[in-house]
Amino acid sequence: SFRAVFWSGIAGWCYLTYLVYKESNPGKQLPQTDLKDNGNKKKHVVILGSGWGAISFLNKLDTTQYNVTIVSPRNYFLFTPLLPSVPSGTINIKSICDSVRTIARQTPGEVTYLEAIAKDVDPENKTVKIEHKSQRFFVGDAFTSERDPLETTLNYDYLVYAVGATVNTFGIPGINEYASFLKEANDATAVRQKLFDQIEASRLLPKDSDDRKRLLNFVVCGGGPTGVELAAEIKDYILQDLSKFIPGIEKEMKVTLIEAQHNVLSMFHPKLIAYTKDVFKEQGVDLQVDTMVKKVDDQNVYATYKHPNGETEDITIPYGTLVWAGGNAQRELTKQLASKIIEQKTARRGLLVDDYLKLDGDDNIFALGDCTFTANPPTAQVAHQQGVFLADHFNKLSKKNDIQYLINNSNDENEINKLNKRLARIEKTDKPFEYIHQGALAYIGSERAVADLSWGDWSTVALGGTMTFFFWRSAYVTMLLGIRNKIFVVSDWLKVAIFGRDCSQE
Ligand code: FAD
Ligand code: NAI
Repeated sequence: SFRAVFWSGIAGWCYLTYLVYKESNPGKQLPQTDLKDNGNKKKHVVILGSGWGAISFLNKLDTTQYNVTIVSPRNYFLFTPLLPSVPSGTINIKSICDSVRTIARQTPGEVTYLEAIAKDVDPENKTVKIEHKSQRFFVGDAFTSERDPLETTLNYDYLVYAVGATVNTFGIPGINEYASFLKEANDATAVRQKLFDQIEASRLLPKDSDDRKRLLNFVVCGGGPTGVELAAEIKDYILQDLSKFIPGIEKEMKVTLIEAQHNVLSMFHPKLIAYTKDVFKEQGVDLQVDTMVKKVDDQNVYATYKHPNGETEDITIPYGTLVWAGGNAQRELTKQLASKIIEQKTARRGLLVDDYLKLDGDDNIFALGDCTFTANPPTAQVAHQQGVFLADHFNKLSKKNDIQYLINNSNDENEINKLNKRLARIEKTDKPFEYIHQGALAYIGSERAVADLSWGDWSTVALGGTMTFFFWRSAYVTMLLGIRNKIFVVSDWLKVAIFGRDCSQE
């Protein structure tokens, strides 16, 4: 009835207000101390990174049982699944960034955050050298950053290593100099700026000039989910919004997606790959598969196209904006760490860990997410589940350590027996990590998405279309960390639905 709907609405609003209030006014946290209440020494946990793995770990860790320091050059968590929506203006970058300090203040015990980059891990002495780079200060009215970086060294009992991966350029000449990436928040805003620079510059050139055509070619290299989602978002932007304010641009502006393999989205069901190709065709995204990029300069992508008969042909693709989405590579710090541990000598594609995410060959370092090489794919879903698992393992580790401490300090046989039983009970519940794949989702443009959903081993469903798009959106809203971000993202979508996307370069 109307009354029931009315009161549920009111209750919903009150709950939302309470959540917003709670998030913006965190309560008291227990301070860091050397000893726990039972007299046992508190261990120092250093977390490297503020991405999916690190933040999922921090959220679930009982921070009253450890002294926790989190170190990351990025003082926010970035919700990467919505990053491809930023260059088109569908999502405001601030809506998908959640401050590390806000997250750290929601935990029960005090957490120290240091904005710094880890430069060196010394597993032997259990130390990490960290550096705070951006010592920016004003000279006249400009920022400079010429001061020497600040360095310090942290000791750890446990290191939680979650620094993610970097972009793999495969050493292709010109990528680092001329292409943008889509990995970090500033990458997404830089792509938007480049897009607008090229559009505005093209207006000065005659309609039939080759240079104008080049400037209006938005080229994405790499047909994994990052490349596909970005191409789809940019095409939507051109067709749905730019065409209203720059009439005719939809006929002139091209979106090209280059992929070395025969298919895009190779991890999806073949039905969904075919569906994506159809949607791209219908939308006019120029999909160039079997095309391997070899070199890039300031105006052209040089590639080799493999014909169906196996013959190859060198082709040149002029571009205005170029985005490289060729996948992941390990960070220098990760390679450096691997080189210090004999058991990691074969770890070329990422750190090797055991079933409890402990580094092979070291008892105090745990690694998770994209910096590791496991049977699981390098996704947010995996890093998140690993973070939650590891926090639970650490919570149990702390309990076990406390019980052992009490056993060591007790002379009472009865008491020791009871404690040993408790220890065995905890050990029994401390099971190895098992990844539960819940499926993959990708946006493919024109309010359509593809989804490969799984429920355990027994069912997999391949879905594509508009309903999947709404599922895609609701899944992401549920996954977004804080209530503030959920509200921002939903209001971004509403704004776009009502007013369309903004057509200015901020
Ligand atoms: P990250 O989240 O990358 O975090 C690494 C952290 O380490 C960062 O905070 C970084 O600043 C910090 N760091 C780096 N170097 C250092 C250092 N030297 N010292 C200290 N800190 C350091 N996955 C999905 O499952 N679904 C999706 O829809 C999806 N969409 C994506 C869209 C895009 C555009 C991208 C790029 C990725 C997407 N992914 C998605 C993949 C997902 O983002 C990654 O798998 C996930 O971020 C990995 O988590 P992580 O914690 O290992 O690394
Ligand atoms: P990716 O590794 O999935 O795809 C990179 C693509 O670039 C590959 O298809 C590869 O063949 C192509 N490529 C490499 N070199 C090339 C060359 N020289 N010329 C042409 N093409 C070339 O990388 P991506 O998309 O950045 O994803 C990284 C990880 O993040 C993956 O694990 C992915 O599953 C995950 N992710 C998941 C998303 C989702 O679930 N919606 C969205 C984005 C990323």
